[in-house]
Amino acid sequence: MNQTLELSTGEKILIRHLSKVDVEGVWNNFNEVVEEGMYLPVIFPVRSRLEKDSWYHKVKNEKEICIVAEARKLKSPYNIIGQCEISNSDWDAGLHVGVLGIIVNIKYRDLGIGAALIDTALRESKKLNNKEKIVLSCFATNERALSLYKTMGFREVGVRKKQFYMDATYYDEVLMEIWIEDYLNHNK
Ligand SMILES: CC(C)(COP(=O)(O)OP(=O)(O)OC[C@H]1O[C@@H](n2cnc3c(N)ncnc32)[C@H](O)[C@@H]1OP(=O)(O)O)[C@@H](O)C(=O)NCCC(=O)NCCS
Repeated sequence: MNQTLELSTGEKILIRHLSKVDVEGVWNNFNEVVEEGMYLPVIFPVRSRLEKDSWYHKVKNEKEICIVAEARKLKSPYNIIGQCEISNSDWDAGLHVGVLGIIVNIKYRDLGIGAALIDTALRESKKLNNKEKIVLSCFATNERALSLYKTMGFREVGVRKKQFYMDATYYDEVLMEIWIEDYLNHNK
């Protein structure tokens, strides 16, 4: 599965499954968003090779979905400018459920890459993992992410008040979900 997304800037972005060569790029992208300090409930960037590789092996061993967006004009590790992971639920009885996480590099936001990553991740997790329902959570202050999720058909199902505490501020956590079948019916 390889798709090319042409941005309004004319730049072509490759949307595809994660490979071993992407590990450094994915973590570089993740750490840059952590350093922005306002979107993820994570304080410290991940630097350890062991942790990066363990994550990759978990994705592959557990057949989880990780779709990456690659800017072909950039060199590794800066070429991975977006990623969307759908990991498995922790519960035996939740095999039909996937848990979505997504980030796009600050220089590439509002260009449609997030929507393209989610679209591909939803389709691939149904096709390859037989997932039926996808859940996610998001800071209540993250207007761009909430707007994108709602536009794509995710439904808000709850709010955990003051779930996170960062930089002396509490953040509410919004819980959302989507049935892939509903998404596919609306997006043939
Ligand atoms: C959230 C994120 C993944 C979205 O990716 P993206 O590539 O920017 O998404 P898209 O360009 O496909 O869509 C963004 C939409 O939000 C809209 N938007 C931007 N800022 C907004 C705001 N303040 N309020 C409402 N909508 C906003 C854009 O107009 C766009 O909608 P449109 O395509 O209908 O015009 C990306 O911005 C990101 O990584 N942010 C930081 C990390 C993060 O928040 N991750 C998610 C944690 S839950």
